Amino acid sequence: MIDPGSRVEAYKRAAAERALQLVRPGMVVGLGTGSTARYFIEGLGRMVQEGFAVQAVVTSSDSRRRAIECGLALRDHLERPVDLTVDGADEIDGSLNCIKGRGGALLREKIVAHASLRFVLIADESKLVDQLGRGPVPVEVLPFLWERTSEGIAGLGGRPVLRVDGEGPSVTDNGNLILDVTFEQVLPSLAGQLHAIPGVIEHGLFFSVAHAAIIAGPSGLHVRGELD
Ligand code: 5RP
Repeated sequence: MIDPGSRVEAYKRAAAERALQLVRPGMVVGLGTGSTARYFIEGLGRMVQEGFAVQAVVTSSDSRRRAIECGLALRDHLERPVDLTVDGADEIDGSLNCIKGRGGALLREKIVAHASLRFVLIADESKLVDQLGRGPVPVEVLPFLWERTSEGIAGLGGRPVLRVDGEGPSVTDNGNLILDVTFEQVLPSLAGQLHAIPGVIEHGLFFSVAHAAIIAGPSGLHVRGELD
């Protein structure tokens, strides 16, 4: 009998492997965070072991550790855009808008995505939604008086819940906290409204950022948008 868990892992891997075909020698490649992006990082590591020359920019301490294990050369400073970034997502709608950050890396993921000439999502088809907001929107907030920031977010109609990790609040790579905020409706205007609240560092809404998505499921691979 097939374990559904491993079937989903096979879809994630298949999407990542298709994305690896987009990598060209000499590229600076942005590495996402999460269980799907992990397959891309590992695959890129294998390509580098076989002599492919690329440099990478990471989006979290987790992807940094994995990239180093895979023998990838990393950059922390860039004089030019990242050529291609490949990352997972939590929800993807029909227009390639997405929610990211349930893995806690949304701030650096957004910086790297915006610094990239191509931003390609990889996912299994469970991530496809008709409308964003099936689950919460992760919002990274400054720890200082975070309860007030949370109240500001609640004022937008959201229901914020502090993300906890073991015994205490989950702390991001940037030393901040995450509020997982459920909204009745997630509209593009919400992005600006969240940014206007003092204490909000970044949110996991990625409107009009991705160029393409590679989605894998039982019927094979599907590409949304333009890969090249
Ligand atoms: C981390 C992210 C991840 O890309 C997102 O949570 C998807 O993760 P996974 O591939 O494990 O489902 O945004 O901040």
